[in-house]
Amino acid sequence: MSVILQARGLCKVYRTSSGDVRALKGVDLDLEEGVFCAVTGRSGSGKSTLLHALSGLDRPTEGRVTVDGADLYSYSDDRMAAFRRRTMGFVFQQYNLLEDYNVKANICMPLKLDGKKPDEAFFEEITQTLGIQGKLRKYPGELSGGEQQRVAIARCVLAKPKLIFADEPTGNLDRRTGEETMTLLTSCATKYGQTLIVVTHNPEIVKMADAVIRIEDGIVVQGE
Ligand SMILES: Nc1ncnc2c1ncn2[C@@H]1O[C@H](COP(=O)(O)OP(=O)(O)O)[C@@H](O)[C@H]1O
Ligand SMILES: [Mg+2]
Repeated sequence: MSVILQARGLCKVYRTSSGDVRALKGVDLDLEEGVFCAVTGRSGSGKSTLLHALSGLDRPTEGRVTVDGADLYSYSDDRMAAFRRRTMGFVFQQYNLLEDYNVKANICMPLKLDGKKPDEAFFEEITQTLGIQGKLRKYPGELSGGEQQRVAIARCVLAKPKLIFADEPTGNLDRRTGEETMTLLTSCATKYGQTLIVVTHNPEIVKMADAVIRIEDGIVVQGE
């Protein structure tokens, strides 16, 4: 298997009016294509900062990130945005669905914005796997939290990103719904060969992972 995501010497310093916050203090990691990696650690330990650095959302103060062989931070902002759109998908704690669009339109939106048509057979398969094929004409406000997150997952998976980043995706769901949702997310990712990086506090979800990165105070204390 090949390494799809590599980080070397990642440091992040937030400069604030009350002083510098060193959120990452030299993180190295190598992730193989197709794995499910859990990122865990206490609140404030640097998990979201790490995800942002790995996905090009926020430039690290020092260090290097290589995605699928490309040096992420050597890109201009425009190329970075295009590269991220093609290569990465995101699932957040807030589902970020568009309230004025129905479920089907929400799922197809990123492809549409990219001027592409969804693969109908793949669309059917994903919505079936996620158990939302009966909800396609509903609006986000008519769905439960768990259903909304499944819609957000379908939206992410449909674009076939190589990497999926999820920051506490089940944080707003009750434990059981959260675990069910994670099982669906991991089974989709496994089925389509996607590499999944998930920030989570849930030990049951950590147990499902192929690799675990535990962060304490900006340092990886246990990796893979
Ligand atoms: N935009 C920011 N400005 C200043 N400090 C920040 C910012 N974002 C995060 N931090 C600080 O960086 C540290 C790591 O935060 P974060 O990565 O959000 O941790 P986690 O996701 O593990 O809860 C914390 O001390 C947090 O307060
Ligand atoms: Mg966080």
